Amino acid sequence: MKRFEGKVVLITGAIGGLGMAQAKVFAEEGASLALNYIDVGTFKEDAAKFIAELEASFGGTHKAYAAEITKEEEVENMMAAIVADFCHLDVLVNNAGVSINASSWKYSAEAWDKVLNVNLTGAFYCAKHALVHMREKKYGRIVNISSVVGVTGARGTVAYGATKAALIGMMKTMAREVCQKGITVNCVAPGYINAGIMSNVPQEYRDNDVIPSIPMGRLGEAKDIAKAVAFLASDDAEYITGEVLRVDGGFAM
Ligand SMILES: NC(=O)c1ccc[n+]([C@@H]2O[C@H](COP(=O)([O-])OP(=O)(O)OC[C@H]3O[C@@H](n4cnc5c(N)ncnc54)[C@H](O)[C@@H]3O)[C@@H](O)[C@H]2O)c1
Repeated sequence: MKRFEGKVVLITGAIGGLGMAQAKVFAEEGASLALNYIDVGTFKEDAAKFIAELEASFGGTHKAYAAEITKEEEVENMMAAIVADFCHLDVLVNNAGVSINASSWKYSAEAWDKVLNVNLTGAFYCAKHALVHMREKKYGRIVNISSVVGVTGARGTVAYGATKAALIGMMKTMAREVCQKGITVNCVAPGYINAGIMSNVPQEYRDNDVIPSIPMGRLGEAKDIAKAVAFLASDDAEYITGEVLRVDGGFAM
């Protein structure tokens, strides 16, 4: 029996570097996927194409849900649609995130609000409304994608680092609130991964600053994060809650 057979997994910001890698691991292990995307640009078409690829490779039934996670009403409607379509929601991966980089003393209020709204408030709305369904069913797994930047800090990431640290505090509170209801809440803290938001980092900075600072001497791969997320979302991790699992090649040890 595959680990996620009969389970419904929602991944926010799923049409991105780490989200798509997670979707593949969950689909391969039998999950039905609810893939959230924000309805701008080509995300709608990209999501439909990706779902067709997942169904062709791994079978199963998967659906895409447009929602801007910074808007509570859209999150609430998305959760209701997922429960109506699949009858339940077992796993939430709070994966959506943005990074806007500038030194603290130059950081604009607009950038600060944007990063906090997506990375923290959006994750809060998704967890809040997922917990309504999970508490009723007395089963659930929430995995928040934090970052080593929330643990160690990194120059130029004042808002991003603040949100990734705050996700850890939010996770520990929620974990305590629901740990007797069959629900676990954890974080994965990726290091520097060769996908997604790292694609915007200049090659020179990657080669000269980032890679030499990683004890393993290389960037991580998206599948490294996906496997850690799947572990925490699985019943192999049923006695783990309130934990931060670093997947970072030793960066923050
Ligand atoms: N790539 C890395 O090295 C790395 C390292 C540490 C943490 N992370 C975290 O991993 C997560 C995934 O990032 P990624 O690297 O795959 O980047 P990515 O940009 O490829 O994916 C992020 C996704 O979030 C979505 N998103 C942004 N705002 C949204 C909103 N308001 N509503 C819904 N979706 C929204 C984007 O559309 C995108 O699909 C993020 O939380 C990021 O902070 C990434």
